[in-house]
Amino acid sequence: MSEPIADHAEPSAAAADGEVSSARFWNACQGGKDNYERDRQAVEAVEAIAPGISADARSARQFLRRTVRWAAAEAGVTQYLDLGAGLPLEPDIHHIVSRHQPDARVLYVDNDPVVLAHQGAYQDPPLSSYIDADMRDTDTVMAHVTECFDLAEPVMLTFSSVLGHFSDEEAHAFIGRLLDRLAPGSCLMLSHDIPTPAIIKACEVYSAAPGALPYQPRTIEQLLRFFEGMDIVEPGLVPLFEWRPDDATEMTEIMGYGAVGRLR
Ligand SMILES: C[S@@+](CC[C@H](N)C(=O)[O-])C[C@H]1O[C@@H](n2cnc3c(N)ncnc32)[C@H](O)[C@@H]1O
Repeated sequence: MSEPIADHAEPSAAAADGEVSSARFWNACQGGKDNYERDRQAVEAVEAIAPGISADARSARQFLRRTVRWAAAEAGVTQYLDLGAGLPLEPDIHHIVSRHQPDARVLYVDNDPVVLAHQGAYQDPPLSSYIDADMRDTDTVMAHVTECFDLAEPVMLTFSSVLGHFSDEEAHAFIGRLLDRLAPGSCLMLSHDIPTPAIIKACEVYSAAPGALPYQPRTIEQLLRFFEGMDIVEPGLVPLFEWRPDDATEMTEIMGYGAVGRLR
């Protein structure tokens, strides 16, 4: 699978102006408040086809929180680059990791004007900041990273429910360019929907909504390829709720998988 996704181009000023936005759609799924009626209608339409998609979105956010907590508390990582951050929904990464690493640095990246309008919640200098950038433009992203981070030390890259917006070719290319610059011990985290029949149909419906950024699921084999040459942290690439669950972890229909890899 993994046809190149049609023109990914701009997330659209249109999203601010009458159409569905990926960030607002996902925020509506997660029970956030930064979304409009049209986003909630899109969620209802997708939920009718793939019941449980909202729980899946919440589960992905819970997984993000557990993985960064693990990285800060157990792996000693102090630097975090969140690509495709989406809308703030507390607790965000900087709230969690600073409890374990008081000198942590977190850089959030997104290119949606909707997220830009809410980026104030990501700004808590010197702990955290936000840049409005296309993650595929790794020169721009790395220019900010080198200002904020010490690249001699490990960095955690987080792609929470994001990579489905890109073809395999694109995603491997920009992730590779980022990983090439990072120190041993750096982490790659990703969460991703897998192609169950319901998710395939739901992605088609979502992707057809006006203004929506197309999204595609990936197979386990495709997801494992992102970790080639890395050590995958226990318990491996698993359903999101099986990754070091805590009291806040919801059991869901299995749609999302996730893993954390570490650079040797
Ligand atoms: C499904 S949302 C996930 C949001 C968040 N990571 C979460 O887990 O709740 C996908 C996010 O990726 C962002 N995104 C998509 N393409 C992007 C790109 N080329 N550069 C930066 N951000 C992008 C969208 O704007 C959106 O906020």
